[in-house]
Amino acid sequence: MLGIKTKLKKLFRNKNQSLVNKDKIIDLMITFKADEFGHECNTEKADLGYGWIHYGLLRQQKPKRVLCVGSRHGYIPAVFAQACKDNGFGTVDFVDAGFDLDDKGGWTGVGYWRTKKGRNCFNNFNLGNYITLFLTTTKKFSQRYPNQVYDYIYIDGDHSLKGVTSDFKLFWPKLNRNGYLVFHDICVKEDKPEGVYGVWKLWKKLEKEFKGIKINYLGSGLGIIQK
Ligand SMILES: C[S@@+](CC[C@H](N)C(=O)[O-])C[C@H]1O[C@@H](n2cnc3c(N)ncnc32)[C@H](O)[C@@H]1O
Repeated sequence: MLGIKTKLKKLFRNKNQSLVNKDKIIDLMITFKADEFGHECNTEKADLGYGWIHYGLLRQQKPKRVLCVGSRHGYIPAVFAQACKDNGFGTVDFVDAGFDLDDKGGWTGVGYWRTKKGRNCFNNFNLGNYITLFLTTTKKFSQRYPNQVYDYIYIDGDHSLKGVTSDFKLFWPKLNRNGYLVFHDICVKEDKPEGVYGVWKLWKKLEKEFKGIKINYLGSGLGIIQK
C-alpha cells in the first residue's frame, strides 16, 4: 500500500511530466461542455480529441483571423480562442444563429447563445479579448462583413448538403492563401431527427479536388483542406 505522501508525489510528478496543463484542459472542457462523442474527446482524461488538431494547427499556423461557424456550448470556439491567447495574438469571429432545439434547421443547437450565460461565457473564462460572438446566420454575417478575410475557417453550422455547400461558397473566397478550411461531421451519413446530413457528400467532392485530409476514428469525422 502506498502512503498518502507517496501517492501525492506520484500524482504531482505525473502532472508535471505532461506537456500540457491537464487541470486547465479539464476546466475548459467542463465549462464549454465538450461533446465527447462529437469531437472524440474525453474530459476526465484531459483529452481534447479533435481539439488537439485545431489547437495544434492554430499554434503552428499562428493565424490573425479565425472564423468559427456553429457550436452548442462553445467548446471548439473556446479552443480556438485559447490557441490565439497562447499565441499572443489572433482573434476568432464566432458565428452562430442561436437556434434552439425547437427551431427548424437548428442542427441540435440549444439556444445557448441567446442567453446571458452564453453571451458571457468566453469573458468568464478570460478569453473575451480573443473571441467575438455574432448571433446571426452565416448568410447575414457574410453580407454584413463582405471584406473580412480569414486564415482558418471551421464549419459546423447547417449540416444539410444545401446549407454546408452554401457556407463553403460564402467562405472559401474569404480564406487567405495557405489557410485551412475545416469541416465537422464529414462522416455522418444517417438521417437523424435534426435532419438529413449532407456534409459527407460535399466532402467527397472537395477531398479529391483539394487532396483533403480526413480524420476519423469513431464517427463524426473532421475534414481539412488547404487553399
Ligand atoms: C449545435 S452545432 C453542432 C454541434 C457542434 N458539433 C458542437 O460541438 O457543439 C450547430 C449550430 O449551428 C448553428 N447554425 C445552424 N445553422 C446556422 C446558420 N445558417 N448560420 C449560423 N449558425 C447556424 C445552430 O444555432 C447550432 O448552434
